[in-house]
Amino acid sequence: MSEELKNRIEETVAYLNARKTINPKIAIVLGSGLGGLTKTIDIIDEIPYTQIPNFPVSTVPGHKGTLIFGKLNNVEVVVLNGRFHYYEGYSMDVVTYPQQVFCGIGVKTIILSNAAGGMNPTFKVGDIMVIRDHINFFGTNPLIGVNDDKLGPRFPNMSEVYSHRLIKLAHSKAEKLNLHLQEGVYMGVSGPCFETPAEYRAYHILGADAVGMSTVPEAIVSHHRGMDIFALSVITDLGVVGQVMEASHEEVLQAAGDAEPKMMKLICEMLPEM
Ligand code: HPA
Repeated sequence: MSEELKNRIEETVAYLNARKTINPKIAIVLGSGLGGLTKTIDIIDEIPYTQIPNFPVSTVPGHKGTLIFGKLNNVEVVVLNGRFHYYEGYSMDVVTYPQQVFCGIGVKTIILSNAAGGMNPTFKVGDIMVIRDHINFFGTNPLIGVNDDKLGPRFPNMSEVYSHRLIKLAHSKAEKLNLHLQEGVYMGVSGPCFETPAEYRAYHILGADAVGMSTVPEAIVSHHRGMDIFALSVITDLGVVGQVMEASHEEVLQAAGDAEPKMMKLICEMLPEM
């Protein structure tokens, strides 16, 4: 990364280190329509992005813009309530800025959530899918540019981006909660268009079970920086051959909001053992 970016990140980290009163080891990124999760958090400090030096500001309805320090099921967490999407016109450096900052303040494990279109014919709207692996279809990569070998390797090994231990933990907790949990491959695309029927079909043939416009760049940077990653998709619409829905942003938000309590329960159960 450039010296300039490194300095900007260091400034943000210094501000947060001076302000925070807890030292969360776990960060949670809330996806579209999943902001309701914040209702369950015992909030210690909620900081609007506009107050954080060098922090980007989110532009999409359904995405708030606050960084929350608090406790969830008695576990200290820092929560990104509103992420930055590539389709908003941000550079990959901006899209993944929060992950660099999380790493800087001592976060070791990151939970990424998103709303996604389901392409696996066994999926239903409202299902939760734990991400086992991803396909980067953004046409770019957040690690392009000068590599700082002190931060992570030039050519990261990608054989286990999503922690197998945490996937196993998720399944065991889902069983305990009697919650049906899907597992699959997430295809990350730039958006902002939803997919044509031909694109949904093509992505499924390529090996993806769900498609969305986030998460992959964040996972790549988090993995590069050595964090453990756990990621969930809420299936908000279907791109299954013969039943492609006319997805709209409003429907995506509605379906994500409906599924959010299930996701909350799963994350709460997992946190103490993460
Ligand atoms: N495609 C891409 N992104 C999405 C979708 C979809 O069908 N649903 C929610 N986010």
